[in-house]
Amino acid sequence: GTNYATILTETRGAVGLITLNRPKALNSLSPELVAEVAKATAVYDADPSIGCIVITGSGQKAFAAGADIKFMADKSYMDMHKQRAYSAEFGAIANVSKPIIAAVNGFCLGGGCEFAMACDFILAADTAKFGQPEITLGTIPGLGGTQRWTRALGKSRAMELVLTGEMITAQEALARGLVARVVPAAELLDDALKTAAKIASHSQPIAALAKTLVNAAFESSLAEGLRLERMLFYSTFSTKDQKIGMKAFIEKQKPEWTNE
Ligand code: CAA
Repeated sequence: GTNYATILTETRGAVGLITLNRPKALNSLSPELVAEVAKATAVYDADPSIGCIVITGSGQKAFAAGADIKFMADKSYMDMHKQRAYSAEFGAIANVSKPIIAAVNGFCLGGGCEFAMACDFILAADTAKFGQPEITLGTIPGLGGTQRWTRALGKSRAMELVLTGEMITAQEALARGLVARVVPAAELLDDALKTAAKIASHSQPIAALAKTLVNAAFESSLAEGLRLERMLFYSTFSTKDQKIGMKAFIEKQKPEWTNE
């Protein structure tokens, strides 16, 4: 496969695994790392043998401890503005049609947390810690933190955390719906790969529709979301895989998806 400098990639069956790999900087998001993640997700998205993507952090200590502070420290307004720092890469990741699971070990802070929240769902190690500490650096979240925390946690707790910069535990993140499940740290990667393999065992275009709709619930009214869901639900009846799936159920067979 491709050689990357700041990430590791490996396929496990139908799952594409991406490991953020700048352990000396707690996997913080350098521009190169984010560009490599965008590239690797696009490669997996285009690969018909891959049905789901898992993103995790190398080492036990961090998923990603934020955007790279050493890179940003001396930037001017115009530097950040012109560079549209990170936004192209986040846009590229948001356009991936295959489901992306963030398997969060250790610190998940600032841009790292915003990145995890931009994935389709988060599985957290019991040791994970989430937060938006930007305020302690004299800046604010810039990659979705003020918006996605508020949608996940409600206004009061999101406001408190963005203003104090304090972290929350995996247990609180679970109780508030920020993460799907919490698992023992030693089992996180296996669990994420198993979950991803299950997702990858389904029809890819159908999974992409399901993912699109759940994400749409984040940014539309209920009426708009229901209308879109109904249209896409009907549209599944134009696929081969819907015919295959329902026929296999009736015949008590395992479906052989065509991804068509
Ligand atoms: N950027 C660059 N380097 C980072 C980093 C980051 N976000 N986070 C940690 N590192 C580096 C440290 O500088 C240190 O490097 P050196 O060994 O060269 O000194 C190394 O990683 C290990 O970190 P610590 O020694 O600090 O480890 P610790 O165990 O004492 O603390 C921590 C861990 C609490 C996570 C602490 O590292 C920390 O607070 N990190 C910064 C978290 C943060 O503020 N993130 C927000 C970044 S801003 C942002 O993300 C903007 C945005 O929304 C787009």
